Amino acid sequence: MKSIPNQNQSLDRFLGDTISEKIAPPLNGNNHSSFSDPAFASNKTQPIHRWVPWIAGFSKEFVNDSIKRYIDDTGTILDPFAGVGTTLVESHITGDDSIGFEINPYAYFACKTKINSLHIDEGKFNEEIERFSAFYLKNLNSKYKVRNKVPEGFKTKIDFYSPKVLHKVLILMDFIETIEDQTIADLFKLAFTSTMVKYSNYSYEPSLGTRRGSGKTDIEDYDVSAVTIQKLLEFLKDIAWIKKTVSNQRIPTSRIINDSFFNYKDHLSKKTVDLIITSPPYLNNYHYNRNTRPQIFWLGFANGPADLKPLEENKFGNIWKTFMGREKIDPIFDVPDIDLIEKVEQIRKINPEKGVYGGSGWANYAMSYFNDCYKFSKGIDYALKKGGTALVVIGNSILQGVTIPTDEYFAKIAETVGLETVEIHIPRSKRIGNSIIQSNVRITKPTKGHQLYEAIVELRKS
Ligand SMILES: C[S@@+](CC[C@H](N)C(=O)[O-])C[C@H]1O[C@@H](n2cnc3c(N)ncnc32)[C@H](O)[C@@H]1O
Repeated sequence: MKSIPNQNQSLDRFLGDTISEKIAPPLNGNNHSSFSDPAFASNKTQPIHRWVPWIAGFSKEFVNDSIKRYIDDTGTILDPFAGVGTTLVESHITGDDSIGFEINPYAYFACKTKINSLHIDEGKFNEEIERFSAFYLKNLNSKYKVRNKVPEGFKTKIDFYSPKVLHKVLILMDFIETIEDQTIADLFKLAFTSTMVKYSNYSYEPSLGTRRGSGKTDIEDYDVSAVTIQKLLEFLKDIAWIKKTVSNQRIPTSRIINDSFFNYKDHLSKKTVDLIITSPPYLNNYHYNRNTRPQIFWLGFANGPADLKPLEENKFGNIWKTFMGREKIDPIFDVPDIDLIEKVEQIRKINPEKGVYGGSGWANYAMSYFNDCYKFSKGIDYALKKGGTALVVIGNSILQGVTIPTDEYFAKIAETVGLETVEIHIPRSKRIGNSIIQSNVRITKPTKGHQLYEAIVELRKS
């Protein structure tokens, strides 16, 4: 059963600064969904959650509600696509054990640093912030020769930073190298990487591109220390807050694994999870890895394009470009009673004259996405205890003008591995257009009839 809302909430989920292309008219009907709105926007003001904005993150309220609803005392919660760790951080606060998988090293690093908050020595951290302030001031106006340089292999169309900004960034990098306590160094690295695009000549629109390309001017100079210190003080405040919040309760275990969830058998025992709360990548061709290249390279997780390849190859819903000119991809599962094949064939027939840019690549992209939905379903079935629940936040999609009810297809595919669909909740009728709609490889423009929504697919293991 599907419950449809009549409210019209705006969604503001992005990595940096910008966007808002509302493309969908409100759906008619009543909102029978009793879940909190899963949009990430509210996280931007919540302690710890606010440290790193993340595209397609979901709200801590949604996670908290879900834990209260499905976990009686304490339990084990899994997020196979952990992003920057909303599920893990919130489980920490509620006192539940948690496990997350995240393939993107920057998101993994952010999640790891957040769940480490309880182990930070606040006094030492404060001292390092003061030491940084003095180090920066002393060296900015002197003849200080920076030791660091732009990471090798980080190639950009135009200079990522203007010379004055770069000098300031490198002073910050030099300082970070002097920090002995690695957990504190990680906080400085996160303060830098979560704000680094703000003062670069690039911006998120919502994909990463030059500011010039979106009609903005380059950033010639910026107070890098002010923005960094502001962020660090936010961290310090939140660390004090979380320590106080959890002071009277059992400290749960949290484990974040920097690997693809598809390797779940290497890390997880069978039937050990009470509740899954997650949101896999949507069928929208969003390049998590390309969009986080600056953070990945400056953190030293990659030294060249070859290092990003395994991330692309193992991610859920491989990007469209991977399928250009490839042979037809077939389903790896017995297709249930849905019109998936018809929709995919409809996409395949679009613009054949465009060759590799035509429908066939997109059709392959869609089929490969649903093959991943099948592999994901098998992982859910493997991990959940009997009677356990999975809440999967997923959006529908528009590919080449063809509307795809991803939530319904996913639920049906999950049923083929033996999971039961309890309900498909729809707490949101509208979301911001995503990269596939805004992308310059787009062939069909979205029209009024195209409706983007977000659903929570509730599955149970009986
Ligand atoms: C929709 S986001 C999840 C956001 C998360 N709910 C939060 O609040 O931060 C999906 C995430 O899945 C990750 N991902 C993609 N493929 C993956 C895979 N095969 N295994 C694990 N993580 C993957 C992406 O890097 C991305 O961070």
